[in-house]
Amino acid sequence: MILFLFYFLSLCTNTIQGQRSSSSCSVPLCNSLGDANNSTCSSSKICYQYQLPNGTAVCGPNITCSLFDLCTTQNKCTTTNNTLCIVNSCCNQPVCMPLSLISLCTQPKTQQSSSGNLNICSGATWNTSIPITVAGGNGAGGSLQQLYYPKFIVFDSSYTIIYISDAYNHRILKWIIGALQGRIIGPNGGQSSSSNQLDYPSCLYLTSDGDLYICDNNNYRIQKMSIYLILTNATTVAGANGQGSQLNQLGDCVDIYVDTSKTIWLVEFDNHRITKWLQGSTFGIMYLGQSSPSPGSGAGDYILV
Ligand SMILES: *[C@@H]1O[C@H](CO)[C@@H](O)[C@H](O)[C@H]1NC(C)=O
Ligand SMILES: *[C@@H]1O[C@H](CO)[C@@H](O)[C@H](O)[C@H]1NC(C)=O
Ligand SMILES: *[C@@H]1O[C@H](CO)[C@@H](O)[C@H](O)[C@H]1NC(C)=O
Ligand SMILES: *[C@@H]1O[C@H](CO)[C@@H](O)[C@H](O)[C@H]1NC(C)=O
Ligand SMILES: *[C@@H]1O[C@H](CO)[C@@H](O)[C@H](O)[C@H]1NC(C)=O
Ligand SMILES: *[C@@H]1O[C@H](CO)[C@@H](O)[C@H](O)[C@H]1NC(C)=O
Ligand SMILES: *[C@@H]1O[C@H](CO)[C@@H](O)[C@H](O)[C@H]1NC(C)=O
Repeated sequence: MILFLFYFLSLCTNTIQGQRSSSSCSVPLCNSLGDANNSTCSSSKICYQYQLPNGTAVCGPNITCSLFDLCTTQNKCTTTNNTLCIVNSCCNQPVCMPLSLISLCTQPKTQQSSSGNLNICSGATWNTSIPITVAGGNGAGGSLQQLYYPKFIVFDSSYTIIYISDAYNHRILKWIIGALQGRIIGPNGGQSSSSNQLDYPSCLYLTSDGDLYICDNNNYRIQKMSIYLILTNATTVAGANGQGSQLNQLGDCVDIYVDTSKTIWLVEFDNHRITKWLQGSTFGIMYLGQSSPSPGSGAGDYILV
């Protein structure tokens, strides 16, 4: 009753159509999608419980009053057939809310991305007012709360964990998104070339069966380890013959991809080439670039496959 009285008072005192009335307006929130209580999807969309003239409620997003038509004095919307009159918004009069806006708060809950189910609720929006730190943010350093020139990240299939090549700490961190600290996985023996060590790790690739491929940059080799087995020793799967442009050597790898045949594809920045290493092979095959020298042919040849 008091709310309604206030409402009619504000109707009388505010004559500018469609604009917001006082800042003290209050419309209850509504968890239209049930998202607020659903831990399996993540939403930041705020929806409000708007009242229809007949007493039922609909869920809709925050609205810009001036863009909407006003309802008639009988609280009807005559202009189009795809709006509903809502009587309790922060606008100073009942306004006609497009059904398309209501659908923003009532669509199915999740969105499927092409690279996996992110489980982001359909009503979710980015909060652009603040950058959100998901890992690190505590200055450069070697503690588990810190990163030191991180080079690359990959996501696990649930998109809740990232693996970070923490280059200047010569380690790979497993970091649950938003957690206060990471956990070292795999080599943790400092900077060197034994199998339990890394030397400025850079690019990463995580296969669907949990093999993490690591560009072990200054060892000019590719290391492989399972994210499911807690082993400190990784296995060399390419390179480890020093820096160079022979086909059994690597340069600075800036990207890596592993296909379903376990062939490793490498982008070698300073060798100006893309090579592929078949599973178990001790040398790469030129894919793109100049092979210099290439076995059995003069420098300058290149093979496209
Ligand atoms: C969500 O949970 C809270 C607290 O348990 C409850 O008050 C609220 O009604 C729930 N909302 C929905 C949409 O189920
Ligand atoms: C209230 O109005 C809406 C929109 O016209 C309608 O969909 C709904 O069925 C009505 N509810 C009742 C209880 O009359
Ligand atoms: C919508 O957002 C404005 C600020 O942008 C806020 O004052 C208002 O309370 C919000 N709620 C509704 C229902 O419009
Ligand atoms: C709404 O209006 C359009 C055009 O006037 C019409 O084609 C459509 O069928 C109407 N929809 C409903 C639900 O009445
Ligand atoms: C929670 O969200 C998931 C993912 O969208 C959905 O499959 C599930 O049915 C929802 N659960 C409830 C109780 O709404
Ligand atoms: C965005 O983040 C800030 C800071 O955490 C918070 O105050 C604000 O309410 C957020 N906005 C929305 C729409 O969630
Ligand atoms: C791991 O590597 C270190 C250094 O090369 C070696 O001493 C150790 O035996 C290895 N451990 C296993 C389980 O292979």
